[in-house]
Amino acid sequence: MNAPEKLKYDRSTQDVGNIVHLEHYNCCIDDQRLAILFYVVGLGATRDPYLFPGMENIWLNFGRTQVHMPSRAVPPKTERLRGTAGFVVPSLEDLAKRLEHAGKEMKRVVGDARQFSYTVKKDCVEATDPWGTRVRCHAPAPEYGPTDLALAYVDFDVAPGTAEGIARFYNEVMEAPAQAAKGRATVRIGKHQKLFFTETKAKQPEYDGHHIQVYIGDFSKPYKWLLERGLITMETDEAEWRFQWIVDPKDGKKLFQIEHEVRSMKHRLFNRPLVNRNHGISNMTYVPGSDVFRGTY
Ligand SMILES: [Fe+2]
Repeated sequence: MNAPEKLKYDRSTQDVGNIVHLEHYNCCIDDQRLAILFYVVGLGATRDPYLFPGMENIWLNFGRTQVHMPSRAVPPKTERLRGTAGFVVPSLEDLAKRLEHAGKEMKRVVGDARQFSYTVKKDCVEATDPWGTRVRCHAPAPEYGPTDLALAYVDFDVAPGTAEGIARFYNEVMEAPAQAAKGRATVRIGKHQKLFFTETKAKQPEYDGHHIQVYIGDFSKPYKWLLERGLITMETDEAEWRFQWIVDPKDGKKLFQIEHEVRSMKHRLFNRPLVNRNHGISNMTYVPGSDVFRGTY
């Protein structure tokens, strides 16, 4: 068989690194009513109807991704992401209307919207959840892949001079394609998600224990590397372990603290189907068959 005359495809565009899915971030909260109003009524999430239907936790579905918000700590504990969570939503115009309504409901029902705010920008909507976590919502676009609803990225605020070492950590330890440029590390996750680590001189709050959760393909090699350096913080079960410190593999220097809940692709929750409602309907606009979110995710 003759060799092809010229390269027709850039096969590298189809490569997927070792972190195959960023499924959720987890922040403790103290009042589930505010989570429902911000994330469900405002952002358009669907409350997971099957797991944690009560008051101790709430799982909020965005396509194939989630936000987890436990509220069982005694005394109550609240956490905020040290960065910005990036979402894709079907319509920024509809989103702004929902956030306006959600803010009024927070004041009416709870009496206080806490740190909630939102701003409509030229190409996105930025908002702050009641506990201070910043979110940025984008309209569907090719850079996010064929999705209308997703947690597309988390962009962490990190100390100056750390981006290069953070990219080294993800490349060499987690086996996820990462690069650093202009004070920002970019880590590719699965088909279209990303983690960013953006250097800032702004003083950051102490780490409060919130986490992100990822699924990885090569489960044992990163674990062994972290274990040998005393960096594994939790041995949950056969299919899950956790670590908190991102370290520079060059010299072991601790660069940024964020718990990673790391699961194998054999974990019982991997690829679990998530319920997503059509948040564009009401009792007045309902037509039979319009209950389910029809977008792509
Ligand atoms: Fe989690």
